[in-house]
Amino acid sequence: MEDKAKEKKGPFVSDIEEIRRRARMHIERGAVTEGYKADRATVVKILNEALATEIVCVLRYKRHYFMASGIHAQAVAAEFLQHANEEQGHADQIAQRITQLDGEPDLNPKGLLSRSHSEYVEGTDLMDMIREDLVAERVAIDSYGEMIRYLGNDDPTTRRMLEGILAMEEEHAEDLRTLIETLSKE
Ligand SMILES: [Fe+2]
Ligand SMILES: [Fe+2]
Repeated sequence: MEDKAKEKKGPFVSDIEEIRRRARMHIERGAVTEGYKADRATVVKILNEALATEIVCVLRYKRHYFMASGIHAQAVAAEFLQHANEEQGHADQIAQRITQLDGEPDLNPKGLLSRSHSEYVEGTDLMDMIREDLVAERVAIDSYGEMIRYLGNDDPTTRRMLEGILAMEEEHAEDLRTLIETLSKE
């Protein structure tokens, strides 16, 4: 069984001279080597969409944080603020990866909302805000899933980063669902 798997995969033989030669070419590209398998321009483009999505989420959570009012406002506001800060962390990670891929992070406020996958909904009351945030998290979960599937094995570093972010968006969605359940009981 083990031999068969080995046979199928082929031995790990690398032409080190060739790798060294290629590494010397285009050193201005930094981390992007000739061996980079993904379509760099497309990856930068989708990462810029993810960046816009995260920034819109930061703004929406910040708005909700400052506008939260009512009996349960304090606990919910604390959750909004924590999410805002975590989305900002995601935005920074993504921008950093874009520059590693020789791209430029698009932080232009113009067109931000059309680049973003999630929407900016202000919401009317506390419950409405939480619902809108949950919708936005679900949008983010689906679009990160799609990006991860698109990357496959072509860019493991970007993929790993996106998988980490996706896991946190899932936690956010779960937090919000719990909040909705708790508030509806009272
Ligand atoms: Fe995020
Ligand atoms: Fe999130």
